[in-house]
Amino acid sequence: MELRVKRASRIDREITVPGDKSISHRAVIVAALSNGVCTLNGFLPSEDCMRTVNAMRALGIKIEQPEATKLVVHGKRRVLTAPTADINCGNSGTTMRLVAGLLAGQKFESRLIGDPGLSKRPMDRVIAPLCEMGASVVAEGPDGTSPLRVSGGSLRGIQYRPSVASAQVKGALLLAGLFARGKTTVEEPTPTRNHMEKMLNYFLVRTTTEADGSVTVFGDQVPESRDFDIPGDISSAAFWLVAAAAQRRGHLLIRNVGLNDTRTAMLGVLLRMGAQVREAVEDVEQLEPRGIVEVTGVPLKATVIQGKEVPNLIDELPILSIAGVLASGKTTIRHAEELRVKETDRIAAIAHNLRTMGAQVTELSDGLEIYGPAPLHGARLPSFGDHRIAMAFAIAGLFADAETVIQDAECIRESYPGFESVIEEFTNPKRMQVSTPVIGSLAPVPAEEG
Ligand code: S3P
Repeated sequence: MELRVKRASRIDREITVPGDKSISHRAVIVAALSNGVCTLNGFLPSEDCMRTVNAMRALGIKIEQPEATKLVVHGKRRVLTAPTADINCGNSGTTMRLVAGLLAGQKFESRLIGDPGLSKRPMDRVIAPLCEMGASVVAEGPDGTSPLRVSGGSLRGIQYRPSVASAQVKGALLLAGLFARGKTTVEEPTPTRNHMEKMLNYFLVRTTTEADGSVTVFGDQVPESRDFDIPGDISSAAFWLVAAAAQRRGHLLIRNVGLNDTRTAMLGVLLRMGAQVREAVEDVEQLEPRGIVEVTGVPLKATVIQGKEVPNLIDELPILSIAGVLASGKTTIRHAEELRVKETDRIAAIAHNLRTMGAQVTELSDGLEIYGPAPLHGARLPSFGDHRIAMAFAIAGLFADAETVIQDAECIRESYPGFESVIEEFTNPKRMQVSTPVIGSLAPVPAEEG
């Protein structure tokens, strides 16, 4: 499928975005381990998240989907049954790594497979600690890649310091830790998204987080069944936030979006680049903060993104690269070598596509230098089979002088079903909505005449 994008008309909109991908995966898994029926609203019905749903079904959990975004998960008190076939994780690294952690705690044998893209991604980061806990996890592919053959059982809790900052590794170890004797501690080199800890806590599973960032779970706990509402995904919102921020006087308001502070670092970057950004947390009752984000566009200034900030905006770096090419000056991204092992080598993909659009870019081993503001030329661009590359360059197309065509854009469905219709609304002025007043400055309503 090809996605065709032309220059945006004036952006002045109010939108919502689909459910959070990371939270959707975790909600399904923790609900499946719980002691009863859980209704999950706002679930992201993307291809990646459906891989996790189908993995849990293959492990004997009944999951109904009465509406696309609503799941009813019948938890079985941590009892899983052996799958009758390989579990196919498709393109979803989150499914493969989290489910590997879960399977490490089960007595039966299982096999996790993925598509050709996923089969190239490193799995040794979960294999090594899970084996240290006492499971047998064997990579059948070269250099620690999938298929993974997992058999587990009597795990012991360990204290582990991963060599990469990865929420997927942390999540896998916390799930394995639930089935282990004693306590399992993950010492994070740099803090990563804390959705697994929050989800476990919401289901009344005890974890502790120390000031140094190490997270501990105690084995043998059964999650207490509960209903949960998944907020909108800030990483999906990021595409539209950058589009509005980079358009002078562009204005966008996004409601019911997740505002967990381990995910919102990109808002700080947009502020640094000069955009006006406001966020208002409206609800924290279910432990995951959610609320409103509003952005008003200005001519953006270049910035530097590096260090501890990187893990908390790792998924936003493709779209922040587009902000960089539209900003004046040199935007530098460093310490982001993890981008090379995402759905594609995102550093190479961003450099390739920005150059094809006419921009000047230097590729670094762990990042990029992007020179802006570059007049972008519409072009035919590969997606490299990577949803975030496809969407980031669709947004670049909103600022290009001629039509941009994103090739093989079906990968967008892995995280954002419906993205194409929002792009269409951003380019088609007839369908634009009336804007909402900015947060905190509502106009007084005149009294009715008697
Ligand atoms: C995710 C963690 C991140 C992120 C991915 C989703 C998660 O990966 O890039 O899109 O849900 O745990 P890493 O854990 O590999 O950094």
